[in-house]
Amino acid sequence: MALDGKVALVTGSSQGIGKDIAIRLAKEGAKVVVNYRSHPEGAEETLDEIKSVGGTCHMVEGYCNDERGYSVGADLGMVEDVQRLVADSIDHFGQVDILVNNAGIEKHAPFWEVDEKAFEAVLNVNLKGVFFATQAVVKHLMATQRSGKIINISSVHEELPFPNFAAYCASKGGLKMLTRDLSVELAPYGITVNNVAPGAIETPINTKLLNDPEKLNALLTNIPLGRLGQPKDISGLVAFLASEDASYMTGSTFFVDGGLTWNYQEQ
Ligand code: BGC
Repeated sequence: MALDGKVALVTGSSQGIGKDIAIRLAKEGAKVVVNYRSHPEGAEETLDEIKSVGGTCHMVEGYCNDERGYSVGADLGMVEDVQRLVADSIDHFGQVDILVNNAGIEKHAPFWEVDEKAFEAVLNVNLKGVFFATQAVVKHLMATQRSGKIINISSVHEELPFPNFAAYCASKGGLKMLTRDLSVELAPYGITVNNVAPGAIETPINTKLLNDPEKLNALLTNIPLGRLGQPKDISGLVAFLASEDASYMTGSTFFVDGGLTWNYQEQ
C-alpha cells in the first residue's frame, strides 16, 4: 500500500474531515496518531474504524482508551500541548513521517464585535498550533535525517473573503503564506509542504449552516457542482499528497470546492 511503513499524525481527527483523513491514511497502510481536543468519543470512533480496516493498534497511558488505537488528547491552542502531542507520537511509533494539520475552528461575529479572546482562540488553533506542530515534526525529521510531508488543511478562505469570519480568514491567509515560505525553507531537507483548501464540506463545523435551509440553498447556488463536499472528497487528495507520487509537489494549495472559488456568472 502507498503508505506502508509510514506514521501519520492527524490533528483534530475525532470528527469531520480529520476523522476521514485518519481512516483513509490507515487504509493506505500508515500507522495513524489520532488527536482530539473535546470529543474523546469521536476519537474512539476513529480508532474503531481504523481497527476495522486493519489499522495498527497502539495505546499510550493517560490519553488512550484501550488496545484499539492510539489517541492523544491535546489542545492545539497550547504550544506545550502541541509539542507534547508530537513527542508522544514519536515516542510511541518511533517516528512521524506525515503531519496533517487539520484541526481548525471558526467563530461567526461582525468584525467590530470580535474580542481578543475569540481572535486568539481562532488564531491559536488555526495558525499557531500549525506553526509549532510543524516545527516539532521538522526538528524530528532533521534530527533523524528523514524526509517528510506536511499537509495543511486550509480553506477556500485563504483566498476568498468571508465576511463575519475575519479572524478565520486572517488565520487561513497566514497559513497560505506559511506554506509557501516553509516549502522553500524545508525543500533542501526533503520535506514538502502543501495546503488543501476545502470549500463547503458537510461536517460539524457547518452544523448551523446545514440546519438553515435558506442559507444552505443560497450557498448551493454558488457552488457550480451543485452540492456540498463530503469528507472523502478531501481525504483522497490528502492520501495522494502523503504518498511518494506527490514527492515533487510543494508550496501549493489544492482547492477542493466544487468550483466555488472561481465561480462568477452574469445572469
Ligand atoms: C468554512 C465553512 C464555509 C466554507 C465555504 C470553510 O472554510 O469552514 O464554514 O461554509 O468554508 O465558505
